[in-house]
Amino acid sequence: MNIGLKTPILPASDAAVARAADCLKKGGLVAFPTETVYGLGADAGNAPAIARLYEAKGRPLFNPLIATVGDIAAAMKIARFDATATRLAEAFWPGPLTLVLPKTENCAVAELATAGLDTIAVRVPAHPVARAILRAFGGPVVAPSANLSGHVSPTTAAHVASDLAGRIDLIVDGGPVTVGVESTIVGCFEAPMLLRPGGLERGEIERVLGRSLARPTDDADNEAGQPLAPGMLASHYAPRTPVRLNAERIESGEALLAFGPTCVPGAEAAGAVMNLSARGDLAEAAANLFAYLRALDSKGARAIAVMPVPQYGLGEAINDRLRRAAMGRE
Ligand code: TXA
Ligand code: MG
Repeated sequence: MNIGLKTPILPASDAAVARAADCLKKGGLVAFPTETVYGLGADAGNAPAIARLYEAKGRPLFNPLIATVGDIAAAMKIARFDATATRLAEAFWPGPLTLVLPKTENCAVAELATAGLDTIAVRVPAHPVARAILRAFGGPVVAPSANLSGHVSPTTAAHVASDLAGRIDLIVDGGPVTVGVESTIVGCFEAPMLLRPGGLERGEIERVLGRSLARPTDDADNEAGQPLAPGMLASHYAPRTPVRLNAERIESGEALLAFGPTCVPGAEAAGAVMNLSARGDLAEAAANLFAYLRALDSKGARAIAVMPVPQYGLGEAINDRLRRAAMGRE
C-alpha cells in the first residue's frame, strides 16, 4: 500500500485495469473514471478497506456509499428490485442513474458502506474503464466521488490527485469525464422519489415511469432528522471562494462563471471569466461545471459570481450543485 507516498497515476490501459483490480482485491483504494465524475473505489465486501476509504476522503461515517456493479444481475444480488426499479434499470443502465433499494438478505456489501441503513444505493456505470475494472475485479465496488469530503467532485485525474494524492493507492486516468455531474439518485420507495438531481434528466425518468417523481421536503436535505439521501448536506459541493448566484452584474474583484452568449454588465472588469457554455448548451455546461468552479476558486477572487442557468433538463442538477456551492462550507 501506498499511504504517505505519492499516488501513481496510470493512463487507462489493460495493464492499468489489471493493476486496479489487483489493488482492490488487496484492500486498496483506486480512483477511476465513470461517465459522471471520478469515483474512489474499494472492495465493497472489505470493511477495513471501506474504513480507510472514509478516512482518505474525510467523510462522515453516517454518509453511506454507492455500490457499483457491472450489470443488473449483479445488482440483484445486493438489492431487491420491484417492478419500478427493474423498469428504470432496464431503461437506463449502464448510465448515470443510482437506485436506492432495500438490501437483500445476504447482501455482500459491508454494513459500514451502507451506514447501518437497510437500503443500498446501486449503480451500473457506463464508462468503459469503470466497466473493465468491475469486470476484472468481479464483485461490487463502493465508489463515492474521488474528492475530499465537502470539495467539488473531480472530473479529471488531476482533480483527484490534487485532493487525494498520498492518501490513496492508485489513480487510473481515463481523461476528462463526459457527463460532469454526479448520477441522478432515485429512491424506489412507495412513490419513486428524486433524492438527488444529476446526470440523467428527471424528465427522461418520468417518461419511462409514466408518472412524476416525488421530491423529499427540504428538511430531508439538511441536518434536521435522518436525511433520505444522507450525503445531500446543504454545503456539500463548496469551493473556498464565496459563490454568488444569479449575478446580474459583476462587482470589482469578482470572478465570473458565465452561461450563454451574452455576458452580464461589468464582465470586462472580472478577474477571470469562464463560460460554462457560450452556446447555452446544458450538457456542455454540466461537463464543465466542476472543473470551472475549481479553476475560478484558485484565482484569489473576492467571490465567484454565477450567471443564471435555466432550470430545465440538466439545469436542475447544475443549479442544485451551484446552490450548494453558494452555501459555503461549514
Ligand atoms: O455519479 C455518481 O454517483 C458518483 C460516481 C463516482 O459513481 N458517485 C457519487 O457518490 O456521487 P457520492 O458518495 O459522492 O454520493 C452518493 C450519494 C450520497 O449523497 C449518499 O448519501 C447517497 O448517495 N446514498 C448512498 N446510499 C444511500 C442510501 N442507502 N439511501 C439514501 N442515499 C444514499
Ligand atoms: Mg460526493
